Amino acid sequence: MATSVGKLSDKTVVITGASSGLGATLAVECAKEGAQLALFARNAKKLQAVAKQCEMVGAEVLVVVGDVTVEADCKKLVAETVARFARLDYLIANAGVSMWTRFAEVEDLGLFRKLMEVNYLGAVYCAHPALPYLKESGGVFVAISSIQGKVGVPLHTGYSAAKHALQGFCDALRMEVEEDGVGVMAVLLHWLRGTELRKNAFGGDGQALGESSRTHSKESVTLEEASRAIMLGMIERERQLYVPKKLKYLVAANALWPKLAERVVKGKVGREDK
Ligand SMILES: NC(=O)c1ccc[n+]([C@@H]2O[C@H](COP(=O)([O-])OP(=O)(O)OC[C@H]3O[C@@H](n4cnc5c(N)ncnc54)[C@H](OP(=O)(O)O)[C@@H]3O)[C@@H](O)[C@H]2O)c1
Repeated sequence: MATSVGKLSDKTVVITGASSGLGATLAVECAKEGAQLALFARNAKKLQAVAKQCEMVGAEVLVVVGDVTVEADCKKLVAETVARFARLDYLIANAGVSMWTRFAEVEDLGLFRKLMEVNYLGAVYCAHPALPYLKESGGVFVAISSIQGKVGVPLHTGYSAAKHALQGFCDALRMEVEEDGVGVMAVLLHWLRGTELRKNAFGGDGQALGESSRTHSKESVTLEEASRAIMLGMIERERQLYVPKKLKYLVAANALWPKLAERVVKGKVGREDK
């Protein structure tokens, strides 16, 4: 294990999208490191189950049910967290939704608005009320993004665009708040194994894709590996965290030899890859 036990002792960690996938695993891993947690998502039942797992390893947990696309819900999340724990050290904007369809096959462009609202505005809505408390604690705003925040990927036009927006927000915000002692870390992830992102991704008809029989790419990262890397990045106050680290070479290749990078990306995302 890369981090030592108790590295997050007495720290308050807020995680959006904590009811499944990466958010749920991060919650349990942060709990094991001694954090007190505020967990947020729409599905109360699943959120309670994750909270229970965190409590079993000794964490104090606040559950707030809400939607990141509703600004008032995000304000409530921050207000209830501070009311309960009197501090906020890390805000992990993790809630996200994806798509899996060609642009030409999108039937309702409202899908693009939804992707922006969850992946981009949801993070903005949480960051804003949290900022005064992050200044007080010298804390870190963590945006769970994707390598798609730097490199476009076919079948994901709206998702790539929303993660690019999130990247721009983080890069600009960092320059504004670093002199106040607030860190901003963008996490650029490869595919993850064991999440519901693909099942919940929008198809061209705007409906969730549902279960797929496809197995995960061999290159995908486990939720535990990703969570450990993110926690270490939080503690070390990284600015940009690539998981796995080798992803930074794709970003460099994309800047220097874009046609080559596009060939690599297209090769990995086949049209049939649903
Ligand atoms: N899976 C991958 O391969 C991969 C790769 C790169 C980056 N990522 C990023 O990792 C993050 C976590 O995704 P995941 O893979 O763990 O997917 P996941 O299992 O589908 O989890 C997504 C989480 O976001 C929550 N959420 C979605 N819409 C929300 C809303 N409007 N308000 C509040 N919460 C909302 C969901 O909870 P409720 O439905 O209960 O609200 C759920 O807890 C996302 O930002 C994703 O873009 C994932």
